[in-house]
Amino acid sequence: MPARHEDPPVSLLQCASLKGRGLLSLDDLTDDELLALLDLAAELKQRKRVGIRGNLLHRKHIAMIFEKTSTRTRCAAAVAAADEGGRTEYLSARDIHLGKKESVADTARVLGRMFDGIFFRGYSQQRVAWLAEYSGRPVWNGLTDESHPTQALADLLTVRERFGAFKGVKVVYVGDGRNNVANSLMAGCAKVGMDFVDCTPPSLAPPRDLVAAAERVAAANGGSVAISHDPALAVRGANVVYTDVWASMGEESKMEERIALLKPYRVDMALMNATGNAANGALVFLHCLPAFHDRNTDLTKDIGAMEVTDDVFESKMSLVFDQAENRMHTIKALFVAAL
Ligand code: CP
Ligand code: NVA
Repeated sequence: MPARHEDPPVSLLQCASLKGRGLLSLDDLTDDELLALLDLAAELKQRKRVGIRGNLLHRKHIAMIFEKTSTRTRCAAAVAAADEGGRTEYLSARDIHLGKKESVADTARVLGRMFDGIFFRGYSQQRVAWLAEYSGRPVWNGLTDESHPTQALADLLTVRERFGAFKGVKVVYVGDGRNNVANSLMAGCAKVGMDFVDCTPPSLAPPRDLVAAAERVAAANGGSVAISHDPALAVRGANVVYTDVWASMGEESKMEERIALLKPYRVDMALMNATGNAANGALVFLHCLPAFHDRNTDLTKDIGAMEVTDDVFESKMSLVFDQAENRMHTIKALFVAAL
């Protein structure tokens, strides 16, 4: 029998342990909870495709505190909530007193009295943890300097859609190896048992304790984690080549030095070919976006591509817009599971 609008998604049952919980980093989730969330996201995506809009977030209010700019994360959260009858309130750093005239703890306690959950994007991981502690509501991390867990959920969903499974899939991240996206991707790949390589200059390698923790998780799940400084070697056998900007939000002053350091780590077609999988269909390119590829921004028009060239970005191997769409389905899964 086809699903009726009022039927809850069947995979919501597997997410019972996530009720009332937010997401500060992927470490908050057990491996099984992560997989259950991906199942729920896939089911919500399918429901939207066939025109089912539910009321799973009916009368739920979500505060969206954004200290940094955003296209995908902000829109994904707003549409996700609205699709299920909820609503979001966007609060940029300029709009509220947070951390200026009012402590994080006080703002959190006020918002906790009014909203059902808080979605936060900013600099400090401590700040998102404080919001969770003091608001008493589920708080979701929509990117800090340290981590970007909702991005990793979309990345994993995109990989699973393409390859059907995680085991045996090799993911190579090439670029700024210690940024928020790289950290969360490493943790996510470890949890689902993929083989992950972070290919980056020694000075941009992720913290040792983070790598050691991911190595342990990956080994327990039949996967692996490695650090490399040699792009052509690292990508051999890769199924996913992933990159991100060379200077993250808040690091704009480091742009010149990063361009010099990371030029050998640019993803171009020669690097994609070095995987050995470019011709056989077993290779995709991912990028969290926004991306600096040839000609697309004011910044790159004078210097050409930064982290990825147009021929890769625009190729059939590039799933970056599926990945962007999946931000919405995975964030919706988080909201629905919690609220
Ligand atoms: N990938 C991502 O987080 O994009 P935005 O910065 O546009 O939200
Ligand atoms: N590492 C990037 C990700 C943007 C989505 C940044 O923090 O700017």
